Amino acid sequence: MEKFIVSGPTVLHGDVTIAGAKNVALKAIVVSLLTEEPIILHNMPHIRDVLLMLEVVRSLGATATFEGNTVHILDGKTGSTTVPLEIGARLRTSSMVLGPMLSRYGKAMIPNPGGCRIGARPIDRHIEGLKAMGATIDYSSTDGFFHAEAKHLHGADITFEKNTHTGTETLILAAVLADGTTVLRNAAEEVEIDDLISLLCAMGANIKRTEKREITITGVPKLHGTEFTIMSDRNEEVTFAIAAVVSKGKIVVHHSERRFLQEFLTVFEKAGGKFRAIDDTTTEYFYGGPLTAVDVTTGQHPGFMTDWQAPWAILMTQATGISTIHETVFENRFSYVEELKKMGATIEYFDPEVANPKEFYNFNFEDKAQDAHQAIRITGPTPLHNAITSMSDLRAGATVVLAAIIAQGKSYIHGVEQIDRGYEHIEERLRHLGASIDRIEEDTI
Ligand code: EPZ
Repeated sequence: MEKFIVSGPTVLHGDVTIAGAKNVALKAIVVSLLTEEPIILHNMPHIRDVLLMLEVVRSLGATATFEGNTVHILDGKTGSTTVPLEIGARLRTSSMVLGPMLSRYGKAMIPNPGGCRIGARPIDRHIEGLKAMGATIDYSSTDGFFHAEAKHLHGADITFEKNTHTGTETLILAAVLADGTTVLRNAAEEVEIDDLISLLCAMGANIKRTEKREITITGVPKLHGTEFTIMSDRNEEVTFAIAAVVSKGKIVVHHSERRFLQEFLTVFEKAGGKFRAIDDTTTEYFYGGPLTAVDVTTGQHPGFMTDWQAPWAILMTQATGISTIHETVFENRFSYVEELKKMGATIEYFDPEVANPKEFYNFNFEDKAQDAHQAIRITGPTPLHNAITSMSDLRAGATVVLAAIIAQGKSYIHGVEQIDRGYEHIEERLRHLGASIDRIEEDTI
């Protein structure tokens, strides 16, 4: 276990290159199970979740190498159909192998998925869809595994009751080799899904977004190997854009995907953040004067993404006025709040009046804990001071690190394995921008 020591305040300035998108990379690895031909993936980020997902496909018989930012995967023909507990339970996206395993082998066993601790995060919407395609899936509370079988998967007309990003992807992966046509209605529209669709079509899949929130997949007999470069990580870019402004500096972001950040850039500018398009894939983010409080409500794409709300909160602690963040996707995604309050932030929880919460919120309402809140109110600006802090999910982790960078004094941040899940070489890149940040063993005093 390790911790960060961060001394502040420092102004961040310089260049950073955005890494490949975690929320594409993980699924692109799963895709390799759909073909016996080699898959070559470029722009893959060196993050823990990618290393874990490579372990998942290796445990199923694939051979996989990761050199530089390129992954080569060749799926074995005599794979296992069980994801080991010690790997699968640590990575939620390990559940996405269900589709490919059922397509190729007619059966699969996966442990109850884990991932960041940001709520219950069940996979009931994934399971219902797979059952509609002919799978039988039972959860055994004795071994903690989902047991899945399917003589053959067939096309189905499936309507998601509520948005699900990986649920949409799981059913796409199950449908590409199924008999017949599958229509997914009320399907998620996150742009990372479109990158995955591009990869699958490059392998010979037949997938089209036919209407708004509707995807049609016509099963094909087999898929072939391909070479593909995944898109940049939108969440990383948002984090660095906020880092530039909250530290009163200037950061030039390379491999920028501005076209997919419109909802962020709108509120970012409204709050007083500045950016300059240098070219199609290069954006300069910089401090342009005092910040103004702006309210945000998270939502599915195209909206203000839930992954952006934690870094946004640190920006609002430095903005003049009272701002609110209303989290509508997850039922427990404010783990960073207590850490920011330790450093001097003024934040209180509240629950906005919502006409029909069961419908309005994206999570299954029965998963909401009694004492959990869906919104926070931030009063700013407040100067931040150092503290001993910890992080419990990767976006909360990035927020605590940014807070320590602008705080007065030396902070200690525990649980850095969380930030390693989704941010490549984060302390080297922040040091390159001027931050004073070191990674040391947890028990070093
Ligand atoms: C994906 O999570 C991303 N993870 C998340 O990014 C992202 O925040 C989220 O989509 C929203 O865009 C990956 O792609 C690996 P959902 P996912 O299914 O698919 C509930 C990050 O920081 N739900 O759209 O798990 C669920 O609990 C991560 O990079 C069910 O109840 O999100 C959540 O409250 C965090 N049953 C809500 O719906 C289901 O079967 C939305 O979940 C599925 C979901």
